[in-house]
Amino acid sequence: MTSTDARTAADVPSTGGALTTDELKADLTLDQLRQLVGLVEYDEEGDVFPVTGWDAIVFVVGNATQAAHYYQAAWGMELVAYSGPENGNRDHKSFVLRSGSIRFVLNGAVDPDSPLADHHRRHGDGVVDIALEVPDVDRCIAQARRAGARVVREPEDVTDEHGTVRIASIATYGETVHTLVDRSRYSGPYLPGYVAKRSTYEKREGQPRRIFQALDHVVGNVELGHMDEWVDFYNRVMGFVNMAEFIGDDIATDYSALMSKVVANGNHRVKFPLNEPAVAKKRSQIDEYLEFYRGPGAQHLAVATGDIIASVDALRANGVEFLSTPDSYYEDPELRARIGEVRVPIEELQKRGILVDRDEDGYLLQIFTRPLGDRPTVFFELIERHGSLGFGKGNFKALFEAIEREQELRGNL
Ligand SMILES: [Fe+2]
Repeated sequence: MTSTDARTAADVPSTGGALTTDELKADLTLDQLRQLVGLVEYDEEGDVFPVTGWDAIVFVVGNATQAAHYYQAAWGMELVAYSGPENGNRDHKSFVLRSGSIRFVLNGAVDPDSPLADHHRRHGDGVVDIALEVPDVDRCIAQARRAGARVVREPEDVTDEHGTVRIASIATYGETVHTLVDRSRYSGPYLPGYVAKRSTYEKREGQPRRIFQALDHVVGNVELGHMDEWVDFYNRVMGFVNMAEFIGDDIATDYSALMSKVVANGNHRVKFPLNEPAVAKKRSQIDEYLEFYRGPGAQHLAVATGDIIASVDALRANGVEFLSTPDSYYEDPELRARIGEVRVPIEELQKRGILVDRDEDGYLLQIFTRPLGDRPTVFFELIERHGSLGFGKGNFKALFEAIEREQELRGNL
């Protein structure tokens, strides 16, 4: 038994769920994770579609070779596995990167006739698969089928010298899928077909060990009038619970509006806010996304950090650009009164454009990047939670105004 195995048995309490293998590998404790992503206790007995946690976020990009470098150099991620022409995959290159407990997979076409090339021409860089680790793939697929979901890949065993994974996929909004993976009988670096790979990239001195530790939530944008359909999909198919909803004045500026509802799995490890545009004077950011992504898709990934100040400083030094927040946001006496004391002086947040929100459970700090690719579609959020299980409702207006300033510059408002 390795020391990690010993810790698994000792550290996992009888309630609140165990740590996933990926979380253990990332040296995270249950308490840390509870704070980072707002885990809650729940009754696993009644769960019709048990989910262990995130498995991977799979992207299609225009140039996976360079994107892999970007996520290492800018976001401090670590290259762990690879598949490509050198090991028999003549269709595309695929780089697997990790930060803490989360894994990103970056796929780019090598063969000009690859379906990935067509996908990229239509959608640009984006998320094609929000893969989840589940303890029982067949049980989940049976439940999904019963509830009317489209099964994209039937359950199958895939095997190599590291063992066997059980894998299947179901369709969600747009061309996005949820692959369901049971890797309990597998010890390889990612999936069969991948080889372990280490980077030649060396971190600069003074860089934090990790810029983010876990994935908090993935937001989906869907068309006008379809949000409730997808909320219902996650309730019915995956047994997800409703967490919060934001409608009307919560998230309207003078020009544009959207509606948002949040669903989550029982322990809240996996959280999916779902947005749809609302009718307003001008085009909302959701309309802009739907136009440039050519349909529904994943809008932003919120990554969790225990020290947003250090993370933002490292990211800025690495050239990552964030949406700006006007000084008036920090000078607003109403905001100051509402947020009360947070762990850092407000001037430190203001210097970096970090937003703060408080609810009955605690507070959170958050900041949003500009779109990561060429199209105004996918972006990231950094989030540092201190008890709050929310999504920064108090900041929606400031955030949307910041996005609108940029939409205007792009000629898309
Ligand atoms: Fe978010």
